[in-house]
Amino acid sequence: MTFNPLKEKGIALDKQIRTWRDIVKRPFNKTEVDCYTRTRQILMNGIETEAWGYKHCMARLCDDLDLRKILADVRRIEDMQQTTVNWLGPADQSILNTTLGYEQVAVDLTAWLAQNEPDEYVRETFNFGLLEDFDHLYRYSQWQYMIEGQDPNDILQGMTDVVIGRPTQNHHNDNTIRLRKSYDKETASPQTKVNILTLVSGEQQTHNYYAEHGFMYGNDDLRRTYAEICDVEEEHVTMYESLIDPTESKFEKLLVHEFTEVCNYYNCYKDESDLKIKQVWEEFLAFELEHLHIAADLFKKYEKRDPEEVIGTKIYEPCHFESQKEYVTNILENEIDKRLGENQDYTRISELPDDWASYKVQEKVGEEGAPTEKTIQLITTSVYRDIVSADEKLIKKQPSLLRRGLEPEAQAPDTVTPEEYEEMGENDIVEF
Ligand SMILES: [Fe+2]
Ligand SMILES: [Fe+2]
Ligand SMILES: [Fe+2]
Ligand SMILES: [Fe+2]
Repeated sequence: MTFNPLKEKGIALDKQIRTWRDIVKRPFNKTEVDCYTRTRQILMNGIETEAWGYKHCMARLCDDLDLRKILADVRRIEDMQQTTVNWLGPADQSILNTTLGYEQVAVDLTAWLAQNEPDEYVRETFNFGLLEDFDHLYRYSQWQYMIEGQDPNDILQGMTDVVIGRPTQNHHNDNTIRLRKSYDKETASPQTKVNILTLVSGEQQTHNYYAEHGFMYGNDDLRRTYAEICDVEEEHVTMYESLIDPTESKFEKLLVHEFTEVCNYYNCYKDESDLKIKQVWEEFLAFELEHLHIAADLFKKYEKRDPEEVIGTKIYEPCHFESQKEYVTNILENEIDKRLGENQDYTRISELPDDWASYKVQEKVGEEGAPTEKTIQLITTSVYRDIVSADEKLIKKQPSLLRRGLEPEAQAPDTVTPEEYEEMGENDIVEF
């Protein structure tokens, strides 16, 4: 049976107002929950925040009161959904625990999207960003151990590797070269539109989480690590959102937003193993079908066009979570030295011009050291090497990966060198 979201029935908007007890549910148990239930919960929080934020932006550009009333009604529901989803997270899940969950979302979601992306250039951009979040996961895993004494697999459950990626100190770009080529709204597949908006929502949520929580630790090196990675997430939002055609009308964008919510809840519902949380996804899918019908009616009314032209007649699955170790290792080994070209293209470290725009930024922010490098210095003083979790073969490759993945120019003074990685590799891995 095919599921055509424009034809499926939802729940009427006036039935979407719920009681506080229904809005705020019992959280999951942080040690018993499946790690991919947690990643779904993290992602859907980001999807709802974007759905809410977009309707505010749109309302601010509209002087039609009838239209603003519709946006206000739907937006309130998005906000209540956001509360329900975000507050499924338990009080005893620390900020660092949650942070590892966020980076697990980024790695495994981006890998899934890249493999299900019809546009080659968009796929290349996803793969590029993937290796950066992969490195963030590695850096934060050191801190979770140093501050809380915990195994990264308490959160990751062995589904996502923890080893060095493209070093974070090399993620700091001139933000204008993060701007990539946009798809063409007339020819892009609806799947491309959904994939990108899903990832933008996730990255934006990650940025906001670090911006709002990184200061809540007392350790200055950890605070600076959050600041450094938070800034990279800003670059990720910039990069992924630039893939979206800016000439889409505001009604078209509204339609794509609701469609993206429908697809993501559909996917969550289909995959969910936790029965209580599955009910949430099911109910919210029915909410979103109604939001989609409202957006489709507005599109027809104001633009006199058929919504199918924009979103097609099928559903997509933009957030299937499963272990992506093999895929990520392959990208890691082949693309660690990839860099952003200045003509919205991609290049390699060896081809970078001496006046590459990002060198200036990297030299400035890293002048007094890179917190993400200091992170490795600190863990080494404590347990003689870094915290890692991966196949032994991959762990052994860290020095050679770094040799290829680290720019010779613009290195922070506290950079941990490939030779130092070789030395620390002789010490035993911390076993939990
Ligand atoms: Fe929503
Ligand atoms: Fe990240
Ligand atoms: Fe990111
Ligand atoms: Fe919605």
